[in-house]
Amino acid sequence: MSKKINYSNFNNFEIVIIGLGYVGLTLSIFFASKKFKVLGVEKNRNVLQNLSKCKSHFYEPNLENLLKKTIDQGYFEFSNKIPVKKNKSRIYVIAVGTPIDKKGNVRNEMIKSVAKQLSNVLENDDLVMLRSTVTVGTSKNIIKPILDKANKKYYFAFCPERTMEGKAIDELSSLPQIVGGIDQESQQIASEFFLNFNEIIIKVSNLETAEMMKLVDNTYRDLNFAYANEIARLCNEINVDCHEVIKMGKIGYKRTNVSLPGPVGGPCLEKDTFILSESFKKYRVKPSLSLLARKNNQKMFDDVFKYLKTLITLKKTKLKIVVLGIAFKGSPSTNDIRGTTAIHIKKSISKNFENFIIYGYDDYVDKKDILLLGFKYLNKLNDCFKNSDIVIMHNNNTNFRNLNLEQLSNKMRKNSIIYNFWGNENYKNLVLKNNVKYISFGSHKVK
Ligand SMILES: NC(=O)c1ccc[n+]([C@@H]2O[C@H](COP(=O)([O-])OP(=O)(O)OC[C@H]3O[C@@H](n4cnc5c(N)ncnc54)[C@H](O)[C@@H]3O)[C@@H](O)[C@H]2O)c1
Repeated sequence: MSKKINYSNFNNFEIVIIGLGYVGLTLSIFFASKKFKVLGVEKNRNVLQNLSKCKSHFYEPNLENLLKKTIDQGYFEFSNKIPVKKNKSRIYVIAVGTPIDKKGNVRNEMIKSVAKQLSNVLENDDLVMLRSTVTVGTSKNIIKPILDKANKKYYFAFCPERTMEGKAIDELSSLPQIVGGIDQESQQIASEFFLNFNEIIIKVSNLETAEMMKLVDNTYRDLNFAYANEIARLCNEINVDCHEVIKMGKIGYKRTNVSLPGPVGGPCLEKDTFILSESFKKYRVKPSLSLLARKNNQKMFDDVFKYLKTLITLKKTKLKIVVLGIAFKGSPSTNDIRGTTAIHIKKSISKNFENFIIYGYDDYVDKKDILLLGFKYLNKLNDCFKNSDIVIMHNNNTNFRNLNLEQLSNKMRKNSIIYNFWGNENYKNLVLKNNVKYISFGSHKVK
């Protein structure tokens, strides 16, 4: 017989989080820091080895500090499998990856495999929450049928992750939590649980609404950035600075809320538009605007490097081209290179230039990751400018906002270029040495 557990009393249940990546580990440590006992399950040995040394395999502000504390206090434990034996009801959170394959289709094998494992251990009254980003309908049509094999009265909800890397720990309590349930009871129980941490719970009609909301969040952001990048591309052709257009246009006029232009990538934005699109394939309807935005955000680099080629005097020696900021974003800081547009920059350079060496610099990203992406490695900013032909500020790392470019240009080759994908007021009216040009995306022709 099933009996409803009071999920606002943490003595009644234990939390098991499966997949200790960016989402699962941060969530585990967040719950554990609020004095909830959490067991994290992870199959990657490297992740587990790091954890056994109280280390996280990625950078997230305050995470390692809390990790050490929660392990010491006994609130966080980890294992390579889901233990069968238990005394209490459990809340299972599925937080494994849902990457896309080369054809742009989402790979569901990891969530399916976890659901299969859960079907062997589920008991009456357990709650399963899916947190990975999925195509609309996955919770009900793919995950539930697998869980049903347990033949238990369990609860099931889709509760998407909405935090931003670099701010995840803070946002886990400050952002509203969306909860869609397979039935009202499941939704109620999942909401009661999250009320331990979040002030605002957004209860939505069903699983599909919650799945759709997650995809809309990210596709909207991609679309908004694509629009800003389009304005930048247009302004590149005339004596107008797109940053002035966008920023000044917003003053006292709330009806426009255009983002600022710049490279857009990362583990979520690079794939979620495709996951949205896949959701609607069987209905033969395409999110054509969103797909075009994604394409444009990936392709925006070709125009830039074509233009830079017209400005560079080719020499007998190889061009030294340096990319500053290899992580997919610079602010908030991260060492995550998944979906980084540094890759597209590298491709565009190869397409437009012949005789060059391309270097990468990032004060957060590991040397091995920079090398893995095919860049030569530099670890000092001074070396990035020394004898360079093109220095590209790729991401919005705050350390690139106040560089002494007048001094650094002195180290560069004659007639070389500093190219900034992010506009910057600090770099207006620079007097650079060696006839170095400073050019910013969205204002190529501004005099
Ligand atoms: N990264 C983000 O900030 C973010 C934000 C919102 C949503 N999401 C979504 O959340 C999900 C997870 O993202 P992520 O960035 O944490 O992915 P990730 O790849 O960093 O982490 C997933 C982890 O799950 C582990 N894993 C896979 N199968 C397992 C199994 N059977 N048992 C135990 N562990 C297993 C992997 O080894 C990996 O460490 C994805 O669907 C993603 O789209 C991510």
